[in-house]
Amino acid sequence: MAFKAIWLTDPQEGIPATLRDVDLPPLSHYPITLRVLYSSLNYKDALAISAKAPIVRQFPLIPGIDMVGEVIASEVEAWPVGKQVVVTGWGIGERHHGGLAEMFYAKEEWLEELPTTLSPSSAAAIGTAGLTAMLAVLELEQQGITPEQGPIIVSGASGGVGSFSTWILARLGFEVIAISGDPTSAEYLTDILGAHSVLPRSEFSAPAKKLLPEQWAGAIDCVGSHTLATILAGARRNACVVACGMAQGLDLTTSVAPFILRGIRLVGIDSVYCARRKRHQAWRRFASLLSEAPLPVSCQTITLQQTIEFADRLLTGEVRGRIIVKTAS
Ligand SMILES: NC(=O)c1ccc[n+]([C@@H]2O[C@H](COP(=O)([O-])OP(=O)(O)OC[C@H]3O[C@@H](n4cnc5c(N)ncnc54)[C@H](OP(=O)(O)O)[C@@H]3O)[C@@H](O)[C@H]2O)c1
Repeated sequence: MAFKAIWLTDPQEGIPATLRDVDLPPLSHYPITLRVLYSSLNYKDALAISAKAPIVRQFPLIPGIDMVGEVIASEVEAWPVGKQVVVTGWGIGERHHGGLAEMFYAKEEWLEELPTTLSPSSAAAIGTAGLTAMLAVLELEQQGITPEQGPIIVSGASGGVGSFSTWILARLGFEVIAISGDPTSAEYLTDILGAHSVLPRSEFSAPAKKLLPEQWAGAIDCVGSHTLATILAGARRNACVVACGMAQGLDLTTSVAPFILRGIRLVGIDSVYCARRKRHQAWRRFASLLSEAPLPVSCQTITLQQTIEFADRLLTGEVRGRIIVKTAS
């Protein structure tokens, strides 16, 4: 069955990303066929579409690391026709065809049932960014961090993962200190997402001291490098720091001082291959939070036709907030 999809070929062939009709044979080991309702455009997707980083591991490929869809054919009893599902990670858009298409062929283990209180578009708005933030918050909770222990600091706060982290933590009663390099986002971070205060990114961007006065009981770090090292240095005794991203850099130059003198724990999040049990828990928490309050994170909806243009704009910093792609015409 032919359907429209963003199509990537090996960059060595010199053919840019295109929107075209593709006719993939339904693979026998991918027993579930979905009509894609929404996808989203993440930084990783933009890098894949523009071939600016080696995200794609197998060509040709349909990009898109997030997908919300409806089952239209299935060989699996537990996933009948009509069920609405969400898929994030598992290598889709990297090793397997992704969500930036009208159709998607899935393995059973990739599927998460869309909670009834979430609309398909809000699940796409959440996508990998929201899931990563929720996994980070669940990790803080699992490590025993409570609002009474002190503030939580969030870096890259105006970005996708940072915005969701700020909002979720504030909803759960934590005092959130947001770090942002964007002075225009201060009102959004405090008045819309609920941060208590905002610190400039510049205070965290230089090489870190070994230890700083004890300030935060926990952290969700989206940027790595000197920022993460400075967050570790300023963490309170027994704090938990969750590392999610590398917007500043992949490097981490620190010392053992925060770990052996203050008992700081550093935990990483991998949203791509994290266990189904954890994903399920994260989507349930979103369903419960969103039944109390609407999603405040800024979003815009584009079409599949606009995706390639928006990928370029996302990489040049011209677009902010979550980009939802409405794939169904
Ligand atoms: N672990 C996982 O499974 C997982 C999943 C999704 C994403 N990620 C990673 O998490 C990070 C954030 O993802 P995202 O989707 O939130 O990206 P995003 O929307 O592009 O946000 C990144 C934010 O980081 C800040 N930033 C950008 N450049 C910076 C720099 N040079 N130094 C310090 N801060 C900088 C900016 O926030 P301000 O302007 O507010 O400072 C920016 O909005 C990325 O590195 C991404 O690859 C990891």
